[in-house]
Amino acid sequence: MADSKDRPVYGSTESPASSPPAPIAGEKQVPSKVTAPSILARKGSGQAILCLTAYDWPTARLVDEAGFDLILVGDSMANVVLGHASTLKISLDQIISATRAVKRAVDRPLVVADMPFGTYHVCVEETLANALRLVREGGAQAVKLEGGASRAHLVQALVEADIPVMGHIGLLPQSVNSRGGYRIQGRTLESACRLLDDALALQEAGAFAVVLEGVPAAVAQRITERLRIPTIGIGAGDACDGQILVFHDVVGLTMGPAPKFVKRYANVADIMRKALKDLVADIQQGNFPTAEHTYDLGLDLPEDWDRHLE
Ligand code: KIV
Repeated sequence: MADSKDRPVYGSTESPASSPPAPIAGEKQVPSKVTAPSILARKGSGQAILCLTAYDWPTARLVDEAGFDLILVGDSMANVVLGHASTLKISLDQIISATRAVKRAVDRPLVVADMPFGTYHVCVEETLANALRLVREGGAQAVKLEGGASRAHLVQALVEADIPVMGHIGLLPQSVNSRGGYRIQGRTLESACRLLDDALALQEAGAFAVVLEGVPAAVAQRITERLRIPTIGIGAGDACDGQILVFHDVVGLTMGPAPKFVKRYANVADIMRKALKDLVADIQQGNFPTAEHTYDLGLDLPEDWDRHLE
């Protein structure tokens, strides 16, 4: 278990009623785990739900330390880690492996695994089997899938199997082929009404939250007001109950232009570029390795040890 010292101790409001008894005075306080019901309970609290993606141990550790509530092991890993042009190529096994790494790293945030393209498109039974693998093998505490009313029966089946589900509507990266690109949704009356209908259908099916991606702020605000479950926005304005972004976009580790909704808080790629160039120069100029990075001979090893082979 990762060391949780030097990090905030979170309030008991995050703990479900059945959580273990309060620690005895003097015992190390472990931050309360965020759960799907505790995310749902945040609706209307005025406390923004903080979400970010992560796909590996070190970044998940950093996201937890920063105080995020929810980590999504997103299929955006296909783009930002594996270099694919779309999210369609990532496999269930790849998401499971990434989810295991993230789970090993975190103490507090809820870990949600994305259901990859093709893993919930055939039938309810297959959807259930794939989501169960994400939970049992990956350790995911919830799953996310894209789509609205037409996927509500899948959400309901997963929820009935005790797998919390986060919905995802609006701009749907997995629908890039059927929609002919990455399209902002909700800009016409028909499209805005369809979004609200989708959101209500997911809520009815038992989703504990819904991601709104690439939706005009005013439409996202109205949907947020109409729902009993939290909305998590990405390119959907500031009225959503929470926000989510892709880790690599936030720290500046994605190559090429970022979407309009991304705010970059660092330029980690430039820091890495400089570090790597400095290493190259040091090796070429004989400045690395120096004595500081080199092991001495063992006391029992004579200088002419290689002659002992004869
Ligand atoms: O895969 C992903 O990263 C997502 C977003 C909601 C961030 O689905």
